[in-house]
Order: sequence, then structure tokens, then C-alpha cells
Amino acid sequence: MTKNILVTGGAGFIGSHVARELVEAGYRVRAFDNLDPQVHGELASRPQYLPKEVELIRGDVRDPVAVRQALEDIDAVFHFAASVGVGQSMYRIHDYTAVNDLGTACLLEAIVENPIEKLVVASGMSIYGEGLYVDAEGRSHENTRRTPDALALGDWEPRDPKGRPLQPRPTPESKPAALESIYALGTHAREQAALIVGRAYDIPIVALRFFSVYGPHQALSNPYTGALAIFASRLMNNRPPVIFEDGEQRRDFVHVHDAARACRLALESDRANGMTLNIGSGQSYTVREVAQGISRVLGRSQLQPEITGEYRMGDVRHCYADISRAKAVLGFTPEVTLDEGLLELTRWLATQVAVDHVARARSELQERGLTL
Ligand SMILES: NC(=O)c1ccc[n+]([C@@H]2O[C@H](COP(=O)([O-])OP(=O)(O)OC[C@H]3O[C@@H](n4cnc5c(N)ncnc54)[C@H](O)[C@@H]3O)[C@@H](O)[C@H]2O)c1
Repeated sequence: MTKNILVTGGAGFIGSHVARELVEAGYRVRAFDNLDPQVHGELASRPQYLPKEVELIRGDVRDPVAVRQALEDIDAVFHFAASVGVGQSMYRIHDYTAVNDLGTACLLEAIVENPIEKLVVASGMSIYGEGLYVDAEGRSHENTRRTPDALALGDWEPRDPKGRPLQPRPTPESKPAALESIYALGTHAREQAALIVGRAYDIPIVALRFFSVYGPHQALSNPYTGALAIFASRLMNNRPPVIFEDGEQRRDFVHVHDAARACRLALESDRANGMTLNIGSGQSYTVREVAQGISRVLGRSQLQPEITGEYRMGDVRHCYADISRAKAVLGFTPEVTLDEGLLELTRWLATQVAVDHVARARSELQERGLTL
């Protein structure tokens, strides 16, 4: 029997790719999304990239009546609706808390009243804070935090208590959360609230901790999230990508097609129930490398990245995924290499107009003392 799936935030970047993945696999999909102007523009209407088979309900995840209606006849839910942006969350504290924490609470209450077969909830790397490190003796350091004094001096690498730089390692799910921003707090709350409610009411829950997801349909005019989309929107306006610190911070960039497949696998596999799973590429690149990569594929290599030497509050130095749990439990293997992914991104970018709001976003942080 065809299953009916609700995707909150289903008009957004990851949600719409998951919707397509599910439609292609024979599911019936309903997207529930308020078409947030920061993501979809002021005159937002149904995005063209959303497959026509997807039913779109425009509504707010904080509205209990609308959420209950959206859940009618639904067998399983993906929860992606969120305010997304680390830096912005540090001053729009009320909005971020309302959407990410209370919005999730609203959805969970409605699910308790109308039980479903499964909830897959979006979590992310932000909850880890700094990733896992080892010291010169090979000992693990799970609780690293850089000091304001070191950051003000541009001393970017985390150090052990003896002052020696630590070496980054892939971060497994067992690393304790270390919340450095209101966005991370909301992401952790969403993940943990879902797992708590799932255990109490025997509802299968899977929390997917996405690393940096990139690919077509990522909002190009939203300067608060998606490093690759932000770099692309600068380059398309003939301006250099802006990079904080020295550009040597390491991240894990996972293509949205791989992320969407991981989502379908999480829906279909019972083995993941009750678990948190990292969804990344399993590879790490420096931010400078990916900025140069996108400049190259866009044919704008002459626009060398602007390295600000500034620290942005809430940023971590290195964090990239250990994906062995998702491999073992879901059989998840990333298929899109960064080079392939960047080429596909360029083909899509060629059809887009990007408004560059990076300077505004940067000055908003500076005015509030959120950069050093
Ligand atoms: N993109 C990434 O790299 C990444 C990494 C880690 C975690 N995540 C998480 O994955 C999820 C999806 O992220 P994304 O990159 O697709 O972001 P996105 O901004 O493209 O999508 C979010 C969608 O939610 C909608 N939305 C916002 N507020 C809403 C509200 N109050 N009610 C209903 N809909 C609302 C927006 O209109 C948007 O369509 C988020 O929960 C995000 O925290 C994303």
C-alpha cells in the first residue's frame, strides 16, 4: 500500500529533495511549509523545483490547528521545518527558539494525539560544537573549546591543556553535545525532544545529524546558511567569497542527493529506530578548498577568497563526520564526489539569479559584537 508521508519544511532545500526521492520511490508526499521569506523571497509562491506530485500546504509549524490538519491520513513524518542560521540565531533568539523548539513541541503533541509509524527528524553537526580531536599521545579530546583570548589573537587551532595544538579526527555520534549557538541549542532540543517522546509513546524515531549539505535549490539569497550557496552568490555577483578565520577550518560537505537517499533509508529501515546517525560524506575539506573549488567551476578563479581573519561567534574550527554508524545501520554510502557535486551545482547556478546579502549579514554580526 502506498504510504502517505508528511515533510515539514518540504518546500525547503533538503525537504524538497527528500520529497522528490520519496515520490520517485512510490510514496505519496505532502509538504507543510510557511515559505519563510528569508528562504523563498518576499513574494514567495510554490517553488518550481517542488515535484508536481507533491501536495503543498502552506502553514506554520507553530500553529497547532494547521499541524493537526496536515497530519490527517499521514503514516510517517520528516521534520525539517526550521529557522536555519548559526550567526543569525545569536540575535534573533526569540524567533529561532519559537520555530525550532516550540515548533517541534507543537508537532510532537499533534503526533502523540495522532500516532504515526515513524518520525525522521533533522538534526545536525552544530550540536557537536568542536569535533573530536586527539593529542600528541593519541588521547581523545571530546570537550575542546577555544578561548576568547586565543581567538582574538588569531590563534585558531584548539589546544590541549599543555598548549599543544590538537589534531582533528572524524566525529562519531558518541561525542557529547557542546552547544555553541542558539541554533545548535534548538537543533539539539528538536532531536532530543523527538527521541524522548518516541521512547515514551513507542513511536519509532530516527534523528539524522546532517553535516554541511549542498546542492541545487539551496537558497542563494540567504546569507546565514549554506557556505557553498553563499560563496556561489558572491561569485555570481563578481565578488570574492568571504571566509572567516584563515580558511583552514575543516568541514564535511555532503551532496543533497546522498542526504535525501539517507532519509529514505532511515524511513524504510527499522534498524535505525531510536538512533542518532551522522549523515556526511565521510571526507573533509578546508573551507578555503571548497571556496576555490566553486570559483574554479564557475570560471571565476581570479576572484580569490577574501580571508577576514575574524572569528564569528558560535563557529567551530574543525568538525567532520564519522559515518560508520549510518553505513552499518542503513547501508548508506555517499555516491557524489565533491567534484561531481560542484559541477552539478554549477549547471543549476547557470539558471539562477543570486542576490548577495553577505555584507549585510556580516555587518549585522559586527554591530552586535558577534565577531572578534
Ligand atoms: N542544510 C544543511 O547543511 C543542514 C545541516 C544540518 C541540519 N540541517 C537541518 O535540516 C533541516 C532543513 O534544512 P534546509 O537546509 O533544507 O533549510 P531550508 O531553509 O532550505 O528549509 C527549511 C524550510 O522550513 C520552512 N520553515 C521555516 N520556518 C517554518 C515554520 N515556522 N513553519 C513551517 N515551515 C517553516 C522554510 O520555509 C523552508 O522551506 C533544518 O532543520 C536544518 O536545521 C540542515
